[in-house]
Amino acid sequence: HTIYLKDYAPTPYFIDRVELEVEIAPEKSVIHALLHVVPREGTEPGTPLVLDGDELLLNSVAIDGAPLGLLAYEVTPSSLTINEPPLRRFVLETTVTIEPEKNTRLMGFYRSNGTWCTQCEPEGFRRITYYLDRPDNLATFNVTMIADKALAPVLLANGNPAGSGELENGKHFAVWEDPHPKPSYLFAMVAGDLGAIHDSFTTTSGKEVALAIYCEHGKEDRCLYAMDALKRSMAWDERRFGLEYDLDVFNIVAVSDFNFGAMENKGLNIFNDRLVFAIPETATDADYDNVERVIAHEYFHNWTGDRVTCRDWFQLCLKEGLTVYRDQEFSSDERSRPVKRIEDVRLLRSAQFVEDGGPLAHPPRPDHYREINNFYTTTVYEKGAEVVRMLATMLGREGFRKGMDLYFERHDGQAATIEDFVAAFADSAGVNLDQFIHWYLQAGTPQVAISDEYDAASQTYKLKLTQKTDPTPGQPDKRAMVIPVRFGLIGPNGSPMGWSKVSGGKVEGDLIIFETDAMELTFEGIANRPVPSLLREFSAPVKLTTSLSAEDQLFLARHDSDPFNRWQALQTVATGILLDAVRAGGKLTDASRVEALADALRETIEGGSGDDAFKALTLSMPTEDNIAQAIGQNVDPLAIHEARGALRKAIAQRLQDRLVLTYNALADDSPFSTAQAATQRRALRNACLTQLVASGTDEAFALAEAHYRGATNMTDRMAALSALVHANAPMAQALLGDFRTLYTADPLVLDKWLSLSAQVPDAGTLDRIKAILADPTFPRNNPNRLRSLVGSFANANPVQFAQPDGSGFRFVTEFVADVDKRNPQVAARVLTAFRIWRNYEPQRRAAAESALRSLEESGTLSRNTADILGRTLAG
Ligand code: ARG
Ligand code: ZN
Repeated sequence: HTIYLKDYAPTPYFIDRVELEVEIAPEKSVIHALLHVVPREGTEPGTPLVLDGDELLLNSVAIDGAPLGLLAYEVTPSSLTINEPPLRRFVLETTVTIEPEKNTRLMGFYRSNGTWCTQCEPEGFRRITYYLDRPDNLATFNVTMIADKALAPVLLANGNPAGSGELENGKHFAVWEDPHPKPSYLFAMVAGDLGAIHDSFTTTSGKEVALAIYCEHGKEDRCLYAMDALKRSMAWDERRFGLEYDLDVFNIVAVSDFNFGAMENKGLNIFNDRLVFAIPETATDADYDNVERVIAHEYFHNWTGDRVTCRDWFQLCLKEGLTVYRDQEFSSDERSRPVKRIEDVRLLRSAQFVEDGGPLAHPPRPDHYREINNFYTTTVYEKGAEVVRMLATMLGREGFRKGMDLYFERHDGQAATIEDFVAAFADSAGVNLDQFIHWYLQAGTPQVAISDEYDAASQTYKLKLTQKTDPTPGQPDKRAMVIPVRFGLIGPNGSPMGWSKVSGGKVEGDLIIFETDAMELTFEGIANRPVPSLLREFSAPVKLTTSLSAEDQLFLARHDSDPFNRWQALQTVATGILLDAVRAGGKLTDASRVEALADALRETIEGGSGDDAFKALTLSMPTEDNIAQAIGQNVDPLAIHEARGALRKAIAQRLQDRLVLTYNALADDSPFSTAQAATQRRALRNACLTQLVASGTDEAFALAEAHYRGATNMTDRMAALSALVHANAPMAQALLGDFRTLYTADPLVLDKWLSLSAQVPDAGTLDRIKAILADPTFPRNNPNRLRSLVGSFANANPVQFAQPDGSGFRFVTEFVADVDKRNPQVAARVLTAFRIWRNYEPQRRAAAESALRSLEESGTLSRNTADILGRTLAG
């Protein structure tokens, strides 16, 4: 059934203190819980207390020490109801048995690679004990863990350590006390035989925090970069937001079976090990980037998520959008701001815009759901971050900080809502955000069109803006959004132009606030026709079209002071060329425009402003998904693949000498370093190599093969292999085989092999994937392995996934049906690859629909998968 935001109501009772005693043993763990229950004011006598539970075996239940008779309570598969609890504070005592070893859903308490660990967000705690498993119940926790000392010398939970000792029969115990009231989704426990690295951090106010990262023995050295990122995150949150850490310890544990990236449990973050481990031999620069970003993200949740949490799951974006914004800002400050912005926008467009334009579209704050696990989406996370960024853009850095300060002042220790968050900014800045808040409530990507007109006689310049948002499921009518458009006018010599007066709408400095369906701005005192630079820094998550010509775009690429728009200008020119090429069946139609694009790219690489990583980004053409999105309907992925290949080849041919020169000039035999300059140098050098390989010549292939074989770090090795794989070069299969042999012992590196193997744009790929999956040694329950193989095929091999005969689609739906029996979250996530099925040309569309229909008929699906499937077919 469906849950609605409008039905939110506080529970009649709340729990303010939890004491757990957990006996961990192979096969069965026993949880003894003391819940301190308080009736809320106004609760009528006789109101039942209903606790959530899932796959629990109840052994005993008592109130204030007195066992309850059979008629006093009721147990169902999803609840424990106390029929007539006392109307005063009391202690409910339960004992349950659970089986972590059998927990393949990886929600609740489970065992990964010998280590017991938890994942409770959003509704996993009910798989550990009966509870009010919802984010608005905040309680302090005391946890005593008991386990065999040989099996689990390490016993960790939330908060501060509060005692430990030996017991009989080789057992031992540890007590953890978390003084900060928290909802159950932030609960965590880890028990196992783990190695660790230790460090410490002293906060501004002088508190010494003991830091540790735990992992499988022998991998400790791989955690050092994560530790460094953690300390930098702690320092940054103090500098930028005045937020200090609040416990004596901060622990991170890396586990190898995890449904998503990581989890911000209070004082005990649990991570997918792929987001902790980083050494040059096994991690690429992109992996380092991700480790730093996610370590920061989870740490920042300590304030935006843990200290101030969500009232209900509809408010998920309150903590996620805000925390993504914070981690983006951290990365921007630690690395290159323009490069970070471009990367974030690329992700937004390739994932969030696609989601927002299809059957799974929903607002950052949805108002109903069937399965909350399906709402940990790019809309909640990345669009949510864009909404916060727009607030920061409109209020300025100081104004934004004031709003954040007020938000913490008002809501520290509380479970809050989106309305609370926005009110803090409205009140601290004294502005009205009633229209702005619709960014959280309305789904769909606004389409903004801007045209300009210059009148020499009156020296006036006009910008005409319109906005419209297409209907999305359940939201047929859309309203105008508040769209901050950062802009500049650029004169013929490339310098910025001012104006004497502007009328027709709100313009604050270099920001247009566009909040109606249409608007016409008139700038006076403009001596020459300017070229406008619009939506600088990508100041709003919209699709922009303008009346600018390709010449104007190339002018911007050379002269715009905003790096984002310099990059965007070249992307726009390339997209124009590609759309024409797709229409022409995959062939380039306008040689002079290709020439002009190549010249502009050459200039960027040769001199040009911007660091090496920026230059590398300008070299990467729009992705096949970007082009599909620009086309919209009747998409033929093969025509797109060919058009893109043709453009990359033409550019490679024209820039060959330049690319080789730059490639050679950037060679670097100093020891590996994660310093910015070194990372960026690798990025540009590898981008040149990738671009060269697109020429398809034997020399380029040979150069890449030598690069692969001579690589002394994973960044270079993967760059070469990936270029050859995507070019479907003759030696690609042999090198993939070589790579597999080299790294059989390292699961995280094997994921790279799985992922690349699934991306080969070749008709043999599907059979090779099936063979890999059929291998009895393939770890069928590990989410990383499954996602690397099948997730990459469905999301990053558009041509083979969308084979016109439907074989790719059927393979994925059959895989989903199978995995769904063991891990519904992984299954449902893979299925979202079908959100674009209606955009295909008729034959592929029919093939996709038939695969989805057979999944529908294949038997009982989990709620997760049934929900995604239902919406995908309905939308
Ligand atoms: N809160 C975690 C994070 O962003 C993610 C939890 C994901 N949970 C889920 N059910 N998908 O950082
Ligand atoms: Zn998060």
